[in-house]
Amino acid sequence: MSSEPTTAAVGSARPRIEGRLKVTGAARYAADEPRPDLAHGWIITATVARGRIRDIDVSAALGMPGVLGVLDHRHAPRLNPQAGNYFGPDGSLLLLQDEVVPYAGRPIALVVAETPEQARAAAEAVRVTYRPEPHDVDFRLDHPAARPASTAFGPEADTGDVEAELAASAIVVDQRYRTPEENCGAMEPHAATAWWEDDHLHAVDSNQGPFSVSQVLATLFEMDRDWVHIRAEHVGGGFGAKGMCGPQMILAAMAARRFGRPVRVTLTREQVFLSTALRPPTDQWLRVGADTDGRLRAIHHRPAFALSPLAEYIEWCSEQAMTLYAAPAIRTELTAVPLDILPPSPMRGPGATPGSFALESAMDEVAERLGLDPLELRLRNQPAVGPVSGRPFSSRRSVACLREGARRFGWAGRDHRPRTRREGHLLIGTGMATTSFSAGVFPSSASITAEADGTFTVAIGATDIGTGARTALTAVAADALGVGTERIRIRIADSDLGMAWNAGGSRGTTSWSFAITEAAKALLERLEEPVRPVTATVDTSALIDYRPEKERHTYSAVFAEVSVDPATGEVRVRRMLGMFAVGRVINPLLARSQVVGGMIMGLSMALHEEGLRDPATGRQVNADFAGYHIAAHADVPDIEADFVPDYEPDDPLGLNGLGEIGTAGTAAAIANAVWHATGTRQRILPIRLDRVLETVTSGVRAGGLGVA
Ligand code: MOS
Repeated sequence: MSSEPTTAAVGSARPRIEGRLKVTGAARYAADEPRPDLAHGWIITATVARGRIRDIDVSAALGMPGVLGVLDHRHAPRLNPQAGNYFGPDGSLLLLQDEVVPYAGRPIALVVAETPEQARAAAEAVRVTYRPEPHDVDFRLDHPAARPASTAFGPEADTGDVEAELAASAIVVDQRYRTPEENCGAMEPHAATAWWEDDHLHAVDSNQGPFSVSQVLATLFEMDRDWVHIRAEHVGGGFGAKGMCGPQMILAAMAARRFGRPVRVTLTREQVFLSTALRPPTDQWLRVGADTDGRLRAIHHRPAFALSPLAEYIEWCSEQAMTLYAAPAIRTELTAVPLDILPPSPMRGPGATPGSFALESAMDEVAERLGLDPLELRLRNQPAVGPVSGRPFSSRRSVACLREGARRFGWAGRDHRPRTRREGHLLIGTGMATTSFSAGVFPSSASITAEADGTFTVAIGATDIGTGARTALTAVAADALGVGTERIRIRIADSDLGMAWNAGGSRGTTSWSFAITEAAKALLERLEEPVRPVTATVDTSALIDYRPEKERHTYSAVFAEVSVDPATGEVRVRRMLGMFAVGRVINPLLARSQVVGGMIMGLSMALHEEGLRDPATGRQVNADFAGYHIAAHADVPDIEADFVPDYEPDDPLGLNGLGEIGTAGTAAAIANAVWHATGTRQRILPIRLDRVLETVTSGVRAGGLGVA
């Protein structure tokens, strides 16, 4: 087929395809799916953190208007205990299977009625009694149950002689850094509308990967995967919490089967907090030793995170210690602490985000101890090859991010001593951090059909959770086929479209683009044939090199300026600048939006977000947006984000992932700026007013700054 010469779509800034649908309210989300004869489920969650259900008295509820019934462990459909997630078998999927309560917020019953209001009213009439058992939600690194974390992501680092290098160091920073439980907080609450037809399960669900959700459901209900049909056309954010098969989906599927009708389950905001996903708290011990010239001698990182005995999980906080800096000795000891909490899940740059807060705070402390520019400290310790793996880097534009970021931010000429800038009664400071996030591709399949009218239909089981995936993939397909984007029709977000990786791990777009590019190649070879429509389908499983000989990451340098009010403890971020190296950028408009969003999440982590658990009940007490603070518009300053020229040599399109690299690194840059403003370290997130007041006010008294 001949085509007009077209402008390359990849690399040009274009608004998102579905923007109009979204702003006019025409885009349908999982809870908007119209179904005839639809019934509604209302979840009842456990109020104790550990124990057993003694009784669920449904007698009053069953007599209430519109009630179809109540599902609980005594008669819910049986689920296959083999079902799991990325890390193996996952007991959090096995809802309503027994009387055991493993955490507060565990769904223990589903009331089904004609309307959501009737279901909710009946749920309030259900009486649950428990045999409580002692719970443990007391998270700390030295918890007696602490054990080595799974090494499914790779072995721990153990190079050189850490103790000898620390002993020989001119200075050693030896500190603990802590981050709290956090919640993903997507705007759209988890919802699913499910129905059965001829023993096939159909659903519209809010998730980050309909194919992987269909796989989990097929295992849970012991059926052929092809008989599970999951769609997730529009998703109002995920941030990790929709990466797995959620409770709304499992319970809606169970209830739809039991009552023989379509059933919708929509979580309340509180249930999203208590029953879906969290980032585990971390307690990280770090020792970093350096010579007087700033050359690192040793990094010892021992981060602990909490998990649940229900499922294995890895919050890989030690990844950056193996990647970012050269040092003769590096040791990591990732530690897991099982507690009676909601099982954690990936969230907004899992591992790297809390991990880089610790490492990049410690690096700032090294610079402080040496009286060195923190930017210069980073530049002096750049590795030539992977510091632990010894493997070469594919593309490593870390220094470019640091230098260009410093130039644009105006870092030169900064007085590196703390508490040297004031405006009126405000203390002003600047800080920076750098980080990496691992990149790569996972298997996906794509089909492209050349239609009789000269258009192309591109089908891939991708999801667009607000990132602009549809728009990016349209551009990739157009270039791969050598046609304009107006001739591309993209179909995504349906498990029937074939195996595909999730919108997750900053690997969605790279994985899907790879499959689309390969499918386009296969199709172009067949276009000489006169038959239309003609379809080419490619599965990249066999094309991916799982043991690349190189380290592949994205990089960032983030700079922040803050003001601190010593009278109130209030920290305001005044401006932030991030420079990113993410390989080739498909769409600068959407890519910038991704990393700006990521930086806002990092700001939110630094200053606001904190899931608080009551030790007495084991229950999260601030499970709503009034109590769990997330940065709002008024908290978000002037943010600038841009990309250094980059091209990933190991990717057919030169791509690496982006999204999560925007979040990781930002909290440390802000915490380091707070130190620069005040002269006191904030090693516990979030940097709350009371924490600032406690340290800064005592500093003010001691230092006689002359402000009240
Ligand atoms: Mo994610 S935290 O990449 O789902």
